[in-house]
Amino acid sequence: QLIDKGNHRHFMLKEIHEQPVVVAQTLQSYLRPLEAQVALPDMEFDLAAIERVAIIACGTSSYVAMIGKYWIEQFARVPVEVDVASEYRYRDPVLTPNMLGLVISQSGETADTLAALRHLKVGGVTTAGIINVPTSSMAREVDLLLPTHAGPEIGVASTKAFTCQLAVMAALATNLARAKGKLSPEEEREIVRHLAEVPEAMSDALSRDEHIAGMAPRIAQARDVLYLGRGPDYPMALEGALKLKEISYIHAEGYASGEMKHGPIALIDDAVPLIVIAPSGPLFDKTVSNMHEAEARGAQVVLISDADGIAQAGENTIATIEMPKVHPLIAPLVYAVPVQLLAYHVAVAKGTDVDQPRNLAKSVTVE
Ligand code: G6P
Repeated sequence: QLIDKGNHRHFMLKEIHEQPVVVAQTLQSYLRPLEAQVALPDMEFDLAAIERVAIIACGTSSYVAMIGKYWIEQFARVPVEVDVASEYRYRDPVLTPNMLGLVISQSGETADTLAALRHLKVGGVTTAGIINVPTSSMAREVDLLLPTHAGPEIGVASTKAFTCQLAVMAALATNLARAKGKLSPEEEREIVRHLAEVPEAMSDALSRDEHIAGMAPRIAQARDVLYLGRGPDYPMALEGALKLKEISYIHAEGYASGEMKHGPIALIDDAVPLIVIAPSGPLFDKTVSNMHEAEARGAQVVLISDADGIAQAGENTIATIEMPKVHPLIAPLVYAVPVQLLAYHVAVAKGTDVDQPRNLAKSVTVE
């Protein structure tokens, strides 16, 4: 199969724009709209028996693991631990009989994640994998394969695989919640409805492409960029910072909004852009107050929020990227789009090799 960039300048941009389609494809294999249910492939173990979940991954996939922790704990009330794969087996983790070991990987070949999977299996743990390449080592070795249908991802910086992994993670959290008796049919119906809205909300987010391209040259001047988020948008802040580092080589850090005062605020001056990822919601005022503290110190704030959030934040906000108003469950999938586009356009403004950034590999098959 010949893969080309179509009308796009880079594979990364093509893959960002493919997301409404590939996320819809992925959701299609998990949603049963007629029954208003979310379903997983058949499995040989009892989901209801699971008492804890360990999620292990590297890079962008590890942020899906972190978001999964918020979702699984909130919906299924099952405790979740998250590790980066390079740490997992060496810390001699406690393995228990009724635990699910979940690996997340686009390639299914990342050496550390594969080693963590084998460590779990040797320890007698039931395993599952959210994996994009169906013929990969991990896809063959997990007890339960939860495929993403992102198609081949060529850009080294992961984009569409990330959002497809999130879609599958939402399906898993929902199934676990139902198995644990924590989800009423009405609640599940709502979840199905919100997930079905994702492709359209993503298309809406993609329509901000030009607006984001317009703000990129200014951010491209920065030496450091900070990203803030709260709840599931905290891992999104980490992902935003990683994307920017990977392809624009600008130093960037992601922080939980409430942690800013414990260190990073010391870095803030008028040369530091602060990207705030904050859909409106119950904790929004807290994030806004963190944002105003940064503004008072001269930070150039870019607020990514919906119309309600932008109105509530006030007119001091230097720049905004307006997102459609979405349910908090699907916000990470939708807010991934402006985060990816911002990194992409800053990299283009800097003239870096977007699809093949220096020193990075698409799949890291050595330890
Ligand atoms: C490399 C890639 C990243 C990716 C990470 C994990 O570092 O450059 O984009 O997130 O590997 O890859 P995986 O295939 O396991 O998801």
